[in-house]
Amino acid sequence: MMLTSRKGPAFETPGADGGRLPEVQRQAEGCTRCDLYRNATHLVFGEGPAKAKVLFVGEQPGDKEDLAGKPFVGPAGKLLDRCLDEAGIDRDLCYVTNAVKHFKFTPRGKRRIHSKPNAGEVQACAWWLAAELRLVRPTLAVALGATALYALLGRQAKVTRDRGTVLRSPDGLPVLVTIHPSALLRTLDQPDAEMNRARFVEDLEKIAEFLE
Ligand code: URA
Repeated sequence: MMLTSRKGPAFETPGADGGRLPEVQRQAEGCTRCDLYRNATHLVFGEGPAKAKVLFVGEQPGDKEDLAGKPFVGPAGKLLDRCLDEAGIDRDLCYVTNAVKHFKFTPRGKRRIHSKPNAGEVQACAWWLAAELRLVRPTLAVALGATALYALLGRQAKVTRDRGTVLRSPDGLPVLVTIHPSALLRTLDQPDAEMNRARFVEDLEKIAEFLE
């Protein structure tokens, strides 16, 4: 099944209450639940159709996302878009968000170097992810990497062991496990780069299989 051909109501979750998302986003923009708001430019809330059947969860906004106030618009987002395209999935039909909504970084000269959010920051931000999940009510969540997986399933799941499979969250939400696209960016110069990318696309193809 090509998700690109599934537009309109057939690709929407019945019972979703996504109309409330802008209100929740406004509340999130004032969030001080952890310290990351202090140095970030924008809170980067999720984006996409309010009734999307598929909800992607990344780690946290990067430098470009922090400046734009939008998720996955930088290099990892562009790679994700290309891989989704190869897997026959239209990103515009999916809701895309992050486990942590503020950019965490270490300044180095003029650059801001990504720094991994800790468990406390993920837990503080789980409030907003839970609100997005409650309002969008996706049929399937896709965990992009370890931080997203931790936010959705806690410590029992592991990307290396579980990737390519669909697990259930404590609330019964199906969660497809895969890597974060930035892992592919980090290994572009290695001999197995093409194989790793193909495997990521294969994981993404499981989205359509699951929805069939
Ligand atoms: N990496 C993420 O996990 N999320 C983004 O929005 C961008 C890069």
